[in-house]
Amino acid sequence: MDRLKVNIGKLELRNPVMTASGTFGYGDEFTDFIDLSRLGGIFVKGTTLEPRQGNDYPRMAETASGMLNSVGLQNKGVDYFLSDIYPRIKEYDTHMIVNVNGSTLEDYVACTEALADLDKIPAIELNISCPNVKEGGMIFGISCTSAANLVKAVRKVYDKTLIVKLSPNVTDIAEIALAVEAEGADSVSLVNTFLGMAIDAEKRKPKLSTVTGGLSGPCIKPIALRMVWQVYKAVKIPIIGMGGISNWKDAIEFILAGSQAIQVGTYNFINPTVSVEIVDGILEYMDRHNIDSINDLVGKLDY
Ligand code: SIN
Repeated sequence: MDRLKVNIGKLELRNPVMTASGTFGYGDEFTDFIDLSRLGGIFVKGTTLEPRQGNDYPRMAETASGMLNSVGLQNKGVDYFLSDIYPRIKEYDTHMIVNVNGSTLEDYVACTEALADLDKIPAIELNISCPNVKEGGMIFGISCTSAANLVKAVRKVYDKTLIVKLSPNVTDIAEIALAVEAEGADSVSLVNTFLGMAIDAEKRKPKLSTVTGGLSGPCIKPIALRMVWQVYKAVKIPIIGMGGISNWKDAIEFILAGSQAIQVGTYNFINPTVSVEIVDGILEYMDRHNIDSINDLVGKLDY
C-alpha cells in the first residue's frame, strides 16, 4: 500500500483520501459503515475557543446538485473537545485533524494552543473561510493581509503541521495561498463553500435563516478544480483539494490538477462509504495506468 502514501508537511498519510470537516462528525458516527483505518485522515468538526450555538434554523437547503448550509460553527468549544471528545477519538488508527475557528485572532491562537500538545492530533486546519459567521471565519480569508497576519500569529504557537483552509469567495485565490505560504503554512486546503442563497418563491422568503449560506456538493466541482489548478501553479506547499468530490474519478481529477491529497465532504451525507470506495477506485486506476506511486500523478495534467 506504499503506492498510496503522501506527505503533507510533517504528516505521512497512508493514502490521500480524507474526510472534510463538518461532514463526518468526529468519525465515530461512521464506524458502522466503514473501517476508519482505511482513510488517510479525518478532519473533525470546526472547533472554537468558546461553545457556539450556531445560527437559527433553518440552516440547510437543498439545491440542484448540492446543498447550502449556514450552521454557524455550532460546537461545544475546545474544553469540551479536550475532556469529552479527544479521549474517545484518540485511539482511531488514522490521522485526526482539528478544524480551528475563531472570531478574533486571539481566539484562533488560544484554541490552537489548547490543541498543540495533544499527542494524537498531529495537525490543525486553520479555517479562515467559514462564510456563515458575522465575526472571524471568512473575513480573515478574503484579504492577503489578514490571512497572513493570522497565520503568522498561529505559526508562532504551533510547530506541528499547519493546514490553512481557503475561501473560494475571492477574486484571486492564488494570491491568498501565496500570502499564507509566506507566513509558514505547511499546506493549503481548498475550497470551502461558495457564498450562495436560496428563496422559497411561494413564501417569498429565504430558505435559510441567515439568508445566505455556503454552497457545496457536485455543483461546485468545476470551479473548485479550477482554483486548485491555479493555486498549484503558484505555491510550493502541498494542496489538499476538495469541492464536490463524489467518486474516484473526481478524486483523480483533483490530483491531476495539483492536489497532493483530497477531502470528501458533502457526498458523505449521500453515501457514507464513498471515501473508502474512492481509495479502492484510485488503486484500480493506478493499476490500469501502471502508476507506481500516487505522487507521480500530482499536477500531471497534460495540456
Ligand atoms: C458552518 O459551521 O457554518 C460551516 C463551516 C464552514 O463553512 O467552514
